[in-house]
This record gives sequence, C-alpha cells and structure tokens, in this order.
Amino acid sequence: MTQKKLFYIETFGCQMNDRDSEIMAQLLTKASYQSTKDIDTADAIIVNTCSIRGKAEQKAYSLLGALRRRKKDNPALIIAATGCVAQQEGQKMLTRMPHVDLVIGPKQIYQLPELFERALSQPQGIVSIDKPKSFHIPPYLPSLNQGLPYKRFVTIMQGCNNFCTYCIVPYTRGREISRDVKDILAEVRYLAQGGVKEITLLGQNVNSYGNDQTIDQRTNFSSLLRQVAQIKGIKRLRFTTSNPKDLSDELMQCFADIEFLCPHFHLPVQSGSNSVLKKMNRKYTRESYLEKVDKLRLYRPDIALTTDIIVGFPGETDADFAETMELLERVRYHGAFSFKYSSRPPAKSCEFEETVSEDEKAKRLSILQKRQQEITLERNNEYVGSEMELMVEGESRAADGQWAGRSGSNHTVNFMSLEKFVPGQLVRVVITEGCQNSLRGKLVE
Ligand code: 5AD
Ligand code: SF4
Repeated sequence: MTQKKLFYIETFGCQMNDRDSEIMAQLLTKASYQSTKDIDTADAIIVNTCSIRGKAEQKAYSLLGALRRRKKDNPALIIAATGCVAQQEGQKMLTRMPHVDLVIGPKQIYQLPELFERALSQPQGIVSIDKPKSFHIPPYLPSLNQGLPYKRFVTIMQGCNNFCTYCIVPYTRGREISRDVKDILAEVRYLAQGGVKEITLLGQNVNSYGNDQTIDQRTNFSSLLRQVAQIKGIKRLRFTTSNPKDLSDELMQCFADIEFLCPHFHLPVQSGSNSVLKKMNRKYTRESYLEKVDKLRLYRPDIALTTDIIVGFPGETDADFAETMELLERVRYHGAFSFKYSSRPPAKSCEFEETVSEDEKAKRLSILQKRQQEITLERNNEYVGSEMELMVEGESRAADGQWAGRSGSNHTVNFMSLEKFVPGQLVRVVITEGCQNSLRGKLVE
C-alpha cells in the first residue's frame, strides 16, 4: 500500500479563513491526502493568509519566506498560498516568492486537489485567483471527523459591498454573494444529525444576507435564523459579523424570540466620532449606533456586546479619539478588539493623508486597551452570583478536575468537578468570580 501524502495548513485571520481551511482539509482528505500537525513531515504546506491589516500580511509573507529553504531541500514539497493575500497579490506573490507552487484565491479553493495534481506535474508556479461573477458555494457537507464534534461554522455568504474606506475585504473577497437557503439548511441538518449542537453562521456582513437574491427567492437574515433555530438538535446559534447600519428591528426581535440564539452580539463600531465614521463610510452615526445598542438591550437585557475599534484613522484628532473613549464608557462593552489604523491599498483611505504618527497611534491604542481591560473586568464581575448554562469544551490543562465551558454570552467559564463531561455537554453553573479573560463558576447540583 502506498503511503498517503501529508498536508499541513497554517491559518491566519478571521473565521472565514478558519472555515476555508476546514474545507481544504476535507477536500484533500477525500483526495487521499492525510492531515499532519507536524510541518516537518508534510508533503504539502498551505498558508491560508489574511490581509486585513499590514501586520497580518507581513506574518504570512514571513512564513512563506521561511519555507524557501524547505523547498530547496525537498523540491517535491508543494507550497500553496491561499486566502486574501493570495487573491490580492496573485502573480506578484510568485515573483516575490518563486518557491511557492500555488497561489489560490478564496473562491478557487474548491479546486484544490486538481491544482495540487497540476502543481506536481508542472515546475512553474500556478496562479488561480479568478473571481467568477456568479459564484455558487457548493452544497457542502463537511466531514464530521474534522473540526470540533459539537460546534461548527457554516458559511452563509461571501464578500462585502460596503466599501468602508479602510477595508480591503471588498477587494479580496469580492461582492456579496448569499448562499442558497436550502444549501445552508441542508448543511446544518447534516451537522445536527452528526451530533453538532452549536452553529455559527458566517459572513462578512450577515445582516445583509439575501439582499443579492431575486425578490421572489429572497430570505432575509432574520428569517434564515428562525429556520436554522428550528433544526432538531441545534441548541445554540451564533452569527458573525454585522455592520451596525444593517441591524434591523426584525433581527433584534430574534434575540427576544429565539431561545437558542446566544446572548452575544459583536457589533463593530470602529470609532465614536461622527466625522471619522463619515470618512470611514460606515453609514451610521454615533447617535444611531447608541440607539441600536439601547434597543438591543431592551430586547435581550443579558446580551453581551463586543466590538472592533480602529485608532489613528487619517484625520482622527484628539477630540475624535476622546469621543471614542466616551463611547466606551457609555456602552461598556464586554470586550473589544482594537487596532492601529493601517493603510491597505487599494482601499480608498490609502489616498487620505495620514495625520496621526505611529507613536500617537500606539499611545491612543494603549489608553483605549487599558480602559477597556478595566471595563471588561468590571463587566465580568457583574456576573458573580448569576446562573449560566455552559457548553463544556474540555478539561483544563491547568489543574486536575478543572473544566472549561463557554457561556451563551461567549465567556470562557472554568469550574471544578471530579465528574467526567463530554465536550458539547450542557451544564449549569453559578458564577463565583470574574477574572480578566474568563469567569469562574460552581456547578449547580
Ligand atoms: N486598519 C486597522 N484595522 C482594520 N480593520 C479592518 N481594516 C483595517 C485597517 N485598514 C479592523 C476593523 C475590522 C476588523 C476585522 O479589523 O476594526 O472590524
Ligand atoms: Fe470591511 Fe466594512 Fe465590509 Fe466589514 S462591512 S468587511 S469593515 S468593508
């Protein structure tokens, strides 16, 4: 029997990339490759890249660069770059990194096994980055042997039409394309029958799901959520990511009506200043954002809110930054991801004059992160005494008898128990302590 060839995947970036890596792993496994966690033993290495910020792109290039030696020592090794940097750079990537065999865009990953075959018989690199005008995400039934057995991602749409001026996504992932409802439901049903209990619906801007479909076939996001929530076996439902401008009352109503919809909403605000939001082309104001936050909390008082913030956008003044800090105090997010602005050609903002120095960006970021950490800790302590349902994730390596689970609010909660639990099992705890990055709880007998 011939030995199976081994592949190794390194994934950078967002959950869309995580999901694409899962799909690639599945396709290669079907094509008689086998996954390895040890890069040294791999016959094929895939670097699934992210280009959202300059730093992410540098990381991808530095890993690809480090593979040059390996390729020299083992010319039969296949090196593939996938994801957003691959899509954006195309041929340029091959010129810069001639040891790379394949440059593959996010919409071409479904051809991965064939591209591997071609790479084996052709010495010069191959670029496959065409963006088909209409793109059908195939009805894809993922293997239940890959990924976590109890929670999975399901892609509902690709691309983005919003063109926020700082953002490269519309250029790398293309325009919004919603996947057919029946394909999504088929995938969720298949996962649920295989024992999956938690589903996260994925898209760059899930709130506009269905907008690209013809009127007679259109299902909007709220209606999709309601349909997914009815699938037998699904106990938890999440989604990411949303643009606040598209957050409708109808979607807020889902938080009140759908028991399985987890009380967590990631609602990227980016800035607290109206003039910066305008320059970012976000199409909402600080006031309309806050109004939506208040309303959301009326529909679901226990909802945990998280956000993304960019500091040092071109033109951001001290006063603009102070408005972002004020917004932090007003919303009191449970958590925030914050970034220094980085120019990402061809995104529009690269034409704007950069007025904030790197030092000043670093200073603003540190002020913001310090304050947010305090708020997060305060928020985590507000849970003390409350009862929560957790989905067990596994035994903690830190101490015997310590288990970790995830709450609907998306907190990691550690608890002690000498009982044995199966990952995916639901248990109830009372929160005893709020820590910086997690909560502590006690099992409810
Ligand atoms: N510079 C800094 N941060 C950015 N993000 C997106 N583009 C940029 C950029 N050019 C951040 C936004 C977005 C998150 C995924 O990454 O906050 O919500
Ligand atoms: Fe980028 Fe804006 Fe689309 Fe989000 S909504 S992916 S930030 S363009």
